[in-house]
Amino acid sequence: MAKIALTGIKPTGTPHLGNYLGSIQPALGLAKDYLSVYFIADWHALTTVKDGKELRPLIHRLTATWMACGLDPEKTVFFQQSRVPEVAELNWYLACFCAKGVLNRAHAYKALVDENREAGRDLDDGVNAGVYTYPVLMAADILLFGSNVVPVGQDQKQHVEIARDLAEAVNRQLGSVFTVPEPLIGAEVKTIPGLDGRKMSKSYDNVIPLLAPASEVRKAVLRIVTDSQRPEDPKDPDKCNVLAILRHFAEAPRVEELKAAYRAGGIGYGAVKEELAATLEARFAPARARYDELLKDPEGLDRILEKGAERARALAGTRMEKLRKKLGVR
Ligand code: TRP
Repeated sequence: MAKIALTGIKPTGTPHLGNYLGSIQPALGLAKDYLSVYFIADWHALTTVKDGKELRPLIHRLTATWMACGLDPEKTVFFQQSRVPEVAELNWYLACFCAKGVLNRAHAYKALVDENREAGRDLDDGVNAGVYTYPVLMAADILLFGSNVVPVGQDQKQHVEIARDLAEAVNRQLGSVFTVPEPLIGAEVKTIPGLDGRKMSKSYDNVIPLLAPASEVRKAVLRIVTDSQRPEDPKDPDKCNVLAILRHFAEAPRVEELKAAYRAGGIGYGAVKEELAATLEARFAPARARYDELLKDPEGLDRILEKGAERARALAGTRMEKLRKKLGVR
């Protein structure tokens, strides 16, 4: 049987170039060699987004983004997490196997606690239990389908390790139920800097949108922070945020040319920004046209997600029945 690659993205913001390079593009590459199982992690999004009017379009935009970038829902099992109720059921069983201390040490929760400590607030101030048990739900996503590899960014590695530990704990206690998954962190970890040079992330508000209108993309590109050197000054190409983004999208010889021009002096940041905007436009205009088209029919997108969910439930197969029996609830 083909090995399974599984990954999910949370619909918490409009997809940006960082999402594309870090998740969407590598996942689409893996879909050629694996049985790919990709989903919209809407239950995970609820730890932060709590307004249906906000969440619904975010789900549709993320769905359309995946498809516009090349995901084929006939090949990939592509679904919305909340349409697979077994995920929630498994979440509970796994919670009962998960040591509480493991969740105390999970990065996302710990970061919020640390923030509270620094601000002198109660340690759990504003922290909902969904954030706390987030890794368990993610383990349910992964283990339900017998995933072999989970392509994720470095920041999600700990979560996949928790899923591994839970699979092993259940297998030890009940006999073999789960496949033990491996995290797959891209060899060349493609973290791309945002407008301010920090990692591109919605939480830093420093993103370049992926399939937004050309004018919006250009506006973001023009906001990329550069130093105050003049065009004629020789510059270090490794210190420029514009080039750090452009190098992921331009042809390699062109990147080399630009680097040489930086070192020699005579090229200004403004010109490189215009080149980046034009390069992104050439690369993503066809995907954007398809994206705009797909978004005109949200019900059609829902149907794709529902059909994918049916396939996902079939793929989960008899694993849940087996587990329920072993646990004695059936
Ligand atoms: N937690 C992941 C993120 O924040 C999204 C996610 C949810 C996920 N379930 C998953 C990723 C299962 C991989 C596998 O990006």
